[in-house]
Amino acid sequence: MKWQIPGINLKLQHEPIQEEINEAIRQVLQHQAFILGPEVGQLEEAVARIAGCSHAVGCASGSDALLLALMALSIGPGDRVLVPTLTFFATAGSVARSGAVPVFVDIDPRTFNLDPKATERILRLQAKSDRCKAMIPVHLYGQCADMDPLSELASEYNLALIEDAAQAILAQYRQRPAGSMGICGCFSFFPTKNLGAFGDAGLITTRDFGLAERLRMLRNHGAVQKYVHASVGINSRLDTLQAAVLLVKLRYLEKWTLLKQSKAEFYRTAFQEAGLSHAEQTYPGQKWPVVLPYPAHEGCHVYHQFTIRVHRRDELRSYLASKGIEAVVHYPVPLHLQPAFSFLGGKVGECPEAERAVQEVLSLPIYPEITEDQQNKVVEEIKNFYTRLA
Ligand SMILES: Cc1ncc(COP(=O)(O)O)c(C=O)c1O
Repeated sequence: MKWQIPGINLKLQHEPIQEEINEAIRQVLQHQAFILGPEVGQLEEAVARIAGCSHAVGCASGSDALLLALMALSIGPGDRVLVPTLTFFATAGSVARSGAVPVFVDIDPRTFNLDPKATERILRLQAKSDRCKAMIPVHLYGQCADMDPLSELASEYNLALIEDAAQAILAQYRQRPAGSMGICGCFSFFPTKNLGAFGDAGLITTRDFGLAERLRMLRNHGAVQKYVHASVGINSRLDTLQAAVLLVKLRYLEKWTLLKQSKAEFYRTAFQEAGLSHAEQTYPGQKWPVVLPYPAHEGCHVYHQFTIRVHRRDELRSYLASKGIEAVVHYPVPLHLQPAFSFLGGKVGECPEAERAVQEVLSLPIYPEITEDQQNKVVEEIKNFYTRLA
């Protein structure tokens, strides 16, 4: 479908920097170090700096970043790992790929992130079995999870704290960058992310030298030197070509993020001026039809998504589609109810906040180049939809 207002428009992002990207690719074609070439190290250094960490290890995807983190921490069969039930599948998929079992936890309904109270309740129950080895808070939609109470719980229960920062490059929590607060942080450079490659790519940040070394080994078949393998790793290297593209795009990331933040503020004001929402309105007091993203705990939200809560969501989404506006549901099924995890026996009612959120969340078009006219059109059509219902 050709959208009048797409959810994201990468063409607009790439056109002005096409020449720089062509040049970066040309250089890789010249030096021919397609695997772990110099651009990979340069990208690792740059992202480590952004995330306030001393080390970063590139890999093939955000999903592999999570898997490698679990492997490097020796988490596998027999272990349990806490994950929020509202996230992209890969957070829990990677746990299952490691051989460990994901334990699904409900979310804070305001931020959509892992709820520390629900986490504590589960830990009290799980603690008896002593098999819970890690926790993976996700910084969903570009806003950090409530890391202070989660870190305390991780220390109390002796859990490795792995941040899923796939959606949160440049986000902060109380002045601390995403990716710097756990034992490691896992990033995705999937093309639609705030920093997106021209294909799959990912990276892990850490302050732990030993962990970084294990990650480097594991991403390269467990090799300690050519054809000598200390353990069984995987092939998950970050392509040099992708690193070259990402290095160019990294020059613009801050500017793009500031633009996205200003677009988010524009929506906020426009929804309030249209009488569709109110600055003070947070879930659950739904007096107005639109609940805006909740900027929590002095954080810096990078708006990977601008996700609102609405009632009659599916009807609204279809109505917007009929007007050429692409709005997306992140995510329609919580992970404890995914068919792939049915063997774990998840039941409706176990995570009520996530189960409600999946009925109500809607991500609106947001990208650095979206115009005020386009944003006004989105708000106007949402207003038309609810006016017709009234
Ligand atoms: C929260 C979250 N975790 C993990 C991933 C996996 O990243 P990738 O698609 O690069 O494997 C994604 C990206 O799609 C994500 O949004």
